[in-house]
Amino acid sequence: MLIAQITDLHVGVAGFLAYGRYDTSASLSRCVAHLLRQRPAPELVLATGDLVDAGSEDEYRRLRALLAPLTMPLYVIPGNHDDRDALRRVFRDHTYLGSAGEPARYCVAGHPVRLIGLDTTVAGETGGALDEAQIEWLEAQLAASPREPALVFMHHPPFRTGIARMDAIGLAAASAERLGAVLSRHAHVQLLTCGHVHRTIQVRWHGTVASVCPSTAFQYGLNLDGPGLEPSPHEPPAYQLHCWNGSELVTHTVAADSGA
Ligand SMILES: [Fe+2]
Ligand SMILES: [Fe+2]
Repeated sequence: MLIAQITDLHVGVAGFLAYGRYDTSASLSRCVAHLLRQRPAPELVLATGDLVDAGSEDEYRRLRALLAPLTMPLYVIPGNHDDRDALRRVFRDHTYLGSAGEPARYCVAGHPVRLIGLDTTVAGETGGALDEAQIEWLEAQLAASPREPALVFMHHPPFRTGIARMDAIGLAAASAERLGAVLSRHAHVQLLTCGHVHRTIQVRWHGTVASVCPSTAFQYGLNLDGPGLEPSPHEPPAYQLHCWNGSELVTHTVAADSGA
């Protein structure tokens, strides 16, 4: 089973350039085209938040058009730049996103790997959190299928990346502690994959592998203890492929620069 992950798309309205320089729509289109050339083709695509830049319905309509070439099922979760209810209104047919006002969390079953999406967004905040109800729901999902490999995906990484500026706006420490306790009880979680940091990162975390997928829009240059973050023009838009081979989930990072 081949699972594609795209994250931090930051699609804006027509003419939008992130940091006045990065055409996020064009780079998303490059990633989508690149992903569609993969053989075998990914069975599905996960999009792990910051789908658009400002959370407007206009941006979500633009996002839909840019993702329309995808020939496989797409599952989205919100990030801090998203508005989950505006997302729901434009992605009305994505009924797994649930009801207005509720966290957009869900489980995709029926594949060799069970996919569990969590919603870490907190309205009006850059950092993330998971409420007790979502933690309990995750525990129930994992307990219900202890033999089935699982992949958990969400926007804010729960671990300290070492990038001070990002760790200040990561998942709240109390939520991370509760999440870690759940994961440590369920060895069948093969991967917890996130976005938000616009870099490729991995760590052993509470008995599983936790990681961050690079952005389709722009990467931040590595700046471990500086006060700010600057996009790095030398690091291309990228996505990941998570390949389940029957016993391991192997992750490949794929750059989709203009020459690809
Ligand atoms: Fe982002
Ligand atoms: Fe983010």
